[in-house]
Amino acid sequence: MDLPAFDFEKLVYLDNAATTYPKPVEILEAATLAYERFGVNPGRSGYDLCVAAGDVVVETRRELTRFFGGSDPNRLVFAYNATDALNTIILGILGPGDHAISTTVEHNSVIRPLNHVARDRGVAVDFVPAEANGIVDPERIAARFRPETRLVVVNHGSNVIGTIQPVGEIGRLCRERGIVLAVDASQTAGVVPIDVQAMGIGALAFTGHKSLLAPTGIGGIYVSEGVEVHTTRFGGTGVHSKEPFHLDNYPYRLESGTPNFLGIAGLHYAQKWIEERTLDGIYRHEMELFARLQAGLEAIDGVTLHGTTSLEHRLPVLSLTIRGMDPADVGMMLDVDFNIASRTGLQCAPLIHQQMGTGERGTVRLSVGPTNRPSDVDAAIDAVREISRDHLS
Ligand SMILES: Cc1ncc(COP(=O)(O)O)c(C=O)c1O
Repeated sequence: MDLPAFDFEKLVYLDNAATTYPKPVEILEAATLAYERFGVNPGRSGYDLCVAAGDVVVETRRELTRFFGGSDPNRLVFAYNATDALNTIILGILGPGDHAISTTVEHNSVIRPLNHVARDRGVAVDFVPAEANGIVDPERIAARFRPETRLVVVNHGSNVIGTIQPVGEIGRLCRERGIVLAVDASQTAGVVPIDVQAMGIGALAFTGHKSLLAPTGIGGIYVSEGVEVHTTRFGGTGVHSKEPFHLDNYPYRLESGTPNFLGIAGLHYAQKWIEERTLDGIYRHEMELFARLQAGLEAIDGVTLHGTTSLEHRLPVLSLTIRGMDPADVGMMLDVDFNIASRTGLQCAPLIHQQMGTGERGTVRLSVGPTNRPSDVDAAIDAVREISRDHLS
């Protein structure tokens, strides 16, 4: 297939919460070279090349375990993405009679598996509302604890309004009660420090293609010591082939079938790229641009910024509406008239929109990434100003 014609020079990409783009070319090149050289089925055979490919996988587990503050690299298991990881956690922990608590800031990759176990397995589920500023009060979660509460699932950083939740405080409360805390780090991994032990996280779900800067199709879970996640998938692990049932020890317990070697190598080189620049350096770059974007948008007549305008406990993600306009139309104008990529609608997070009063049509989301420049946010401010002015005049 010939690649479609596209004028990349003109594009202003502010949809980094969907996936970061463009990925740093050094990461893609290093991952492709690793796949070109070592792309055999890792860990399946004893010939040298296969062992070397297995070493890439093992090394990536080890490095990511360190990155997330874990203690045992075998408990870092790979998944396709955060959705896959969250399904594995939720379906692998909750059974009939259990109670789970989550929040209204969640993505459908948490809401839907929880609703399925509620409907299909007789699990009781509570969604605790975020406060008006988009932050969930840990005490409101603790107030719902019951003797049957097995799991709390919390979004670390919102993909709609950017708020970062006090996961460490929620983790402390869960730990006191022996309840597993699962964290959806889709938006934070790669830009906000995460330490599973210090934060009391029992199961951390991450996706590779957002701030972790890896290709799509790779993600994972770090399962802390003492947390039992039962497998919901069975198959080949490359070892103990005589065994009629799926292996119980990690990482095999939660991995089956041939792994995504290109994705794993991508994660490995992306982590290196991130650590060379430091999480703090990347975060500060993004938040400087974001502060400029938010200040510019706030000053425009007819524009409402939803959730919070605080720059504290915040990711560079915002949701806006223009008075009297359908967000879908605004998004289309941004694209067609200004070459600006945004995301409109409910962004797969319907509960927070219901709470904010944007549950019907949603918002326009703009999200900054590591490769954005000041000219990108200035272009977005000018475009929103023009769209709003034309509409209101
Ligand atoms: C907060 C949050 N959770 C989960 C996901 C799902 O990630 P993936 O599509 O990589 O599974 C997303 C992606 O948009 C997200 O923003």
